Amino acid sequence: MIAPILEIRDLSINFGGLRAVDQVSFSVERNCITTVIGPNGAGKSTLFNLISGALRPRNGQVLIEGVDCTGQPPYRMQAAGLARSFQITNLFDELTVAENLRLAAQILEPTTKIWRPVRGSTIAQARVDELLERFSLTDKARHSVAELSHGEQRRLEVAVALACKPKVLLLDEPTQGMSQGDTQDTAELIKSLVHDVTIVLIEHDIGLVMSLSDHVIVMHQGQKLAEGPPSEVRANPAVQTAYFGHA
Ligand SMILES: Nc1ncnc2c1ncn2[C@@H]1O[C@H](COP(=O)(O)OP(=O)(O)O)[C@@H](O)[C@H]1O
Ligand SMILES: [Mg+2]
Repeated sequence: MIAPILEIRDLSINFGGLRAVDQVSFSVERNCITTVIGPNGAGKSTLFNLISGALRPRNGQVLIEGVDCTGQPPYRMQAAGLARSFQITNLFDELTVAENLRLAAQILEPTTKIWRPVRGSTIAQARVDELLERFSLTDKARHSVAELSHGEQRRLEVAVALACKPKVLLLDEPTQGMSQGDTQDTAELIKSLVHDVTIVLIEHDIGLVMSLSDHVIVMHQGQKLAEGPPSEVRANPAVQTAYFGHA
């Protein structure tokens, strides 16, 4: 049997007396969109911090293609094939769009060339051009991040996370603060990525969750409340009460 691309086993962390993530287990299927939903404070971002290595779990395991990567620092997780975007934007404002992508893509260059001039990095440059095109940012390549609209910044952030060609991409509320139009465009974009990468998404727009997800995981007070196909999860009475506020 082939190991799942990402598997979480009994993952837990406490902040003082608060069980922010409490014995959460699930597996993620390859080239699918798995969405984590739940009310504010449910532990979704903390879960991502545990998976990506930003936080070390109190107990539990994170396995990437069957390899135990628990508690490894983020750069090791990236080497294992995992990348993430952040709920709060994480770009270099004073650099251009192309420069932000270039920094993230530089990891694709053979390490023996890492101290050579950046203009010699043809693999990284090819990746930058590909991402500019795919994310409709070619026209903005030489603009600084500060000049972009909010929607463009969030789009660039997804592109930056993808630059290192990860196997698994964690996206924390990529449509947060976007207009309806930008949200729809981003949804289409995310859908189009799934041929190349497995996506785990945190999303609060329930319409988007239903239309985009292959699999939904519901968190509530640090625990996994339910999981399953979107329609099944939505019909679950416990989810109705905890998340939608009515049974
Ligand atoms: N670094 C931290 N230190 C202490 N408490 C935290 C920290 N990060 C998150 N929390 C708390 O953990 C809970 C879960 O937070 P979070 O994972 O951000 O929720 P969500 O992303 O689902 O809204 C919240 O009560 C939050 O206040
Ligand atoms: Mg969050």
